[in-house]
Amino acid sequence: MDSPPLPLPHAATPTELRRVVAGWRAAGETVAFVPTMGALHAGHLRLVEQGRVEARRVVTSVFVNPTQFAAHEDLETYPRTLEQDARVLAEAGCDLLYAPTAKSMYPEGFATRIAMDGPALGLETDHRPHFFGGVAIVVAKLLNQVRADVALFGEKDYQQLRVIFRLAADLDIPTRIVGVPTERDGHGLALSSRNAYLSEAELEIARRLNGRLAAAAARVRSGDPIDAVERETAEALIVDGFASVDYVAIREADTLNPLAEAVDQPMRILAAAWLGRTRLIDNMAL
Ligand code: PAF
Repeated sequence: MDSPPLPLPHAATPTELRRVVAGWRAAGETVAFVPTMGALHAGHLRLVEQGRVEARRVVTSVFVNPTQFAAHEDLETYPRTLEQDARVLAEAGCDLLYAPTAKSMYPEGFATRIAMDGPALGLETDHRPHFFGGVAIVVAKLLNQVRADVALFGEKDYQQLRVIFRLAADLDIPTRIVGVPTERDGHGLALSSRNAYLSEAELEIARRLNGRLAAAAARVRSGDPIDAVERETAEALIVDGFASVDYVAIREADTLNPLAEAVDQPMRILAAAWLGRTRLIDNMAL
């Protein structure tokens, strides 16, 4: 890497990455992998911490993946804080920062796409149809490059997590996928790199999302009809000050299949809503 010196070992190409990981493997060491798009916060560091529990070595990737952004989305303005990320990763005990260039991930002539059904259907896909194709291709590539024993993903992006479980199973990727509970601020707001876009006034509204989901979950548990709870929770978010609501949905927790009524198996409530130019997502087990 030719950028300023970073305070931990780092790799910028799959070849450099593989050389380091091969050295660890030769010494009989296990490897955990934390994929990120950088702008790291306590939620990411929780993944690194869990990685250190799961394996002897931890690799964290920082790559703002262009294929998961639509042309009108925030690819250009997405926060990029590589030096700061490297500092916190070093402090957190990460062993290797993998920050590949876009050219090494998507070289001239790159021609492969992944289309997914199952848990990728609906919810995010209804509003960001390009999203899971981009996530699936980059996660498949990263998992193939690192070949870790275990890879950790936050439950905050719950549909993404279910998609990645499916992807790894369907493509026989041997890395074990682990979901890690969402880190929240003292008011229940799920930590996200995009929270940096929120004004003080928006932050106050954003902090109501989690409480609305908790109230909805309690209503479903006490027998209220799913469709009424979904509709009324979306309406309540607008009253709270959200500009619009993409969805509030109660789904079967593993497959994310829609539910006509509550079932006696794990369910999940998921929501996405807009505040100004910021789109917030959150979810919770029922
Ligand atoms: O959740 C994210 O940060 C990204 O979607 C991921 C999994 C790193 C793929 O780019």
